This record gives sequence, structure tokens and C-alpha cells, in this order.
Amino acid sequence: MGIGNKQRLTTDHIVRFKEIVGETYVLLDGDTLFNYGHDETEALNYLPEVVIKPRTAEEISAIMKICNQDLIPVTPRGAGTGLSGGALPHLGGVLLSTERMNSILEIDEKNFLVITEPGVITEVLMDAVKEKGLFYPPDPSSRGSCFIGGNIAENSGGPKAVKYGVVRDYVMNLQLVLPNGEIIWTGANVRKNSTGYNLTQLVVGSEGTLGIVTKIVLKLLPFPKYDLLMLVPFKQLEQAGEAVSAIFQAGFIPSALELVEIDALKIVSKMVDSTAVPVTDDIAAHLIIEVDGNNREVLMQDMEAIGNLLTQYDIGEIYFADDAQQKAELWKLRRRVAEAVKIAGYSIEEDTVVPRAALPALIRGVKELGKKYNYHAVCYGHAGDGNLHIRIKKEGVQNSLDDPAMIESIRAMFELVHKLGGTISGEHGIGLIQKGYLDIVFNETHMRLMKEIKKSFDPHNILNAGKIFDLN
Ligand code: LAC
Ligand code: ZN
Repeated sequence: MGIGNKQRLTTDHIVRFKEIVGETYVLLDGDTLFNYGHDETEALNYLPEVVIKPRTAEEISAIMKICNQDLIPVTPRGAGTGLSGGALPHLGGVLLSTERMNSILEIDEKNFLVITEPGVITEVLMDAVKEKGLFYPPDPSSRGSCFIGGNIAENSGGPKAVKYGVVRDYVMNLQLVLPNGEIIWTGANVRKNSTGYNLTQLVVGSEGTLGIVTKIVLKLLPFPKYDLLMLVPFKQLEQAGEAVSAIFQAGFIPSALELVEIDALKIVSKMVDSTAVPVTDDIAAHLIIEVDGNNREVLMQDMEAIGNLLTQYDIGEIYFADDAQQKAELWKLRRRVAEAVKIAGYSIEEDTVVPRAALPALIRGVKELGKKYNYHAVCYGHAGDGNLHIRIKKEGVQNSLDDPAMIESIRAMFELVHKLGGTISGEHGIGLIQKGYLDIVFNETHMRLMKEIKKSFDPHNILNAGKIFDLN
């Protein structure tokens, strides 16, 4: 079924949607359509025809039955913080927001798990379990505004992934509304499960193309008692990349190991009016290194040993964040980099990931490509995972989708990533803007298998169609 065959919405559809969710939650005004027409991806905006805000899985099921029957495109949306265009309603139709599904249903302290609805802000969830001494680690930079449902859709990561893993490592079970309106649970609330194909993990990271997640069961850890944070300024960018591998090879697993290039730090420091990080001209990048655990003495020894190890590189003075306030200040700076550099004109972002030891080669290659294709790039991100965000600024280019030279240059970057043994998204997803490059990393067999999976969940191709790949 081609996406071009979709029907348009009629007034009859609108009446039926209002019967399902109530008049207040079916929105057609221009401002709302505009606001839900974009997420954080580049400068893209596609107007939906209607925004619907259901409260329950049953309401979503009833909406999906109508849309499936009448071939109306549906785009699910969490908080709209995505960076690959997953929530962009590029085919019009229904924009289905999960924002009213915002209850934490149960924190099960005995079994170390939490059951939540998808529209809960990730940080709210983290704080709620922390109050009980429990730890939900995946902490994307947008954790203060993104929804846990969106994190499931994208298989988000964040700084803590280097030690604790990404979202998929915590998902035990999902309630899912299928495109035809049927409701299933994908797994079970247990820590081990070898019972058939793992539909839970298939749905995590499927970018809202297979079903709409309406309840989420996550496993939790005990909250570590202590963490220590230091900032190490490097005079040469590539050396910062080399040092990352050296830290692991020396036997340490930091709870965060982030790299921020100095240009990005300058921009974000100015935006939030902070002098917490020295941005002198001889510094090329900073590594932010955090360790956590239950024994403070051991952590201090680890920090000292990592600091000593790094003196083999050309570094400036190491800065230790002494108290909670200093740590919070540093993390605030780090978390707001993406927003700050976007405002400063770095509107295009790539989410490259390579084996950790290939990081210096990736950094070198990106800078060379910038010269060749006449753009300026700043690098930052989760260096400990080999996951480097590359923000691109090119005069007159705001979107990567419609600029042939930009498309050519991104292709060259992804070919480099692939050559280095990496792939084209570590945590932001493929969505709308990266789908043109999937052929770099997947062959036809791989694409066929993914498309067959999509067809078996969504035979009419109505749910977030044209994301990750086009069916035709
Ligand atoms: C970050 C987001 C953009 O790492 O993934 O800041
Ligand atoms: Zn990131």
C-alpha cells in the first residue's frame, strides 16, 4: 500500500475522534498545528491535519481502528525533543500526542521495577525512583523535557550509557497498541525471558513505526551512593579522543566520559552565562569524567589514577567539581550544548558512533571533510561510547534534506563512519532525515527483513510511515 494512497481526513473523522477523546482534546487551530509540526530536528516543519491527545490505550486503539480502516497517516509524538524527525507529521493526517498519559503507575521496590505511562518526563521518573533509593540510569541531555515513551521509541542513551547501558537494557515489557487497534503486552515483568521472539526489544528503537507504546515496565538498580566529577582540558582534540581508550585500557569504567570541543563550550557558556569552565585559547576540548559507586575512597583513588594517566597527554590543569552545585553547573553546561550550538547556527546534527578506539580517526576525518565541503563542525558527545555528535554550520543551509551539497557531504561522513567500523546513529534514530543513508550500512537483505517486519505490524503502512525507510 503506497503512502500516496492515503485518504484525507473528513469532518466525519473529526466528529468520531471527538467522541472518543472528548472535544477538548481534538485540536485543529493553526497555532497548535504549527507547534506540533516540528520537533528539535533542524528547521523542519510539516503541518498535521489534526492533533489528538488521548488519555488511554483504549482511546488510542479506537483512533487507530478508524485510521487503519480509512488509511489515514498517524504520527505518534512524545515531547518533541527528537533530533532525527521521528515525530514530524510529514504526511499530514493525525498527530497523536501522548502528553496526557503522564502517570507513574507503580514503583515496585521489592522487584526493582517501575511501571509508567509514556508521557512522563524522563527526569520526573528518575527523581521518583531515586526517592526510593532506586536508579534508572539512561539520562539523555533532554531528560528535563523529553518523555520516557520517546526514549523507548529512539532507544536513547545519554552520558551514563557508557557504564550502565542504554534504554533497551532496562525495558522488560511494553503495552503496545498495534496499527489495527489491537492491544498486546510484548514481554513479561521478569528479569530473564527466553520465551519466543523478543518483541519488546524489537519495539524499542523502532521509532513509533510498529505500534504505540502505552505502558512501560523498566528495571531499576540501587542508586549509587557517591559520584565524583572532573574536567580535563586537552590542547589537542585528537589526543582527547586517544585518551578515552587509554582510560578503559587502564581498567576503569567511568559512569560518564564525555567530550566537548572548545567551540561548543564557548557557545554554551555564553548562552547560560557561566564561567564554570575555563575556555582559554590554548585548549581544544574538554573531557568530562565521572565515576560513581558506594565507596568514596575507592572513587577518589580512581580519579587520581585517571588524572595521573592523562598527564601523558598535552593537557591543562585538571578541575575537580567539589560539591553538588559545581557538578550541577558542569552538567547543565554539557546538557545544553545541543540547544546552544543550534541557536548559534549549527543547525545540522549527525549522531555518529564508531568503536571507541576509532574516535581519533573519526575526529580527524570530520575536520578534513569540513574543509573539503566548506562547512564548520563542532564535536561533542559520549566519547566513552565512541558516540560523537557532530554539529554542522554552513552558510545558508538550515536543513540537510534539500541541499544536494550537504547530502553529498553527510554521505561522505557516514561512509567514513562505516569504514571505521561504526554506524550512522548511536542514539537519535534514523527518522526522516537519515533514511537516505541507510544503504551505507545495510544491504538489500537487511532492508527486506526490516520492511517485512514493518508490513507484518502495519500492513496498511499508516503508522509513522516513511520513517526509517520508505516501504516502496
Ligand atoms: C546530547 C544529545 C544531543 O548528547 O544527544 O546532548
Ligand atoms: Zn547525546
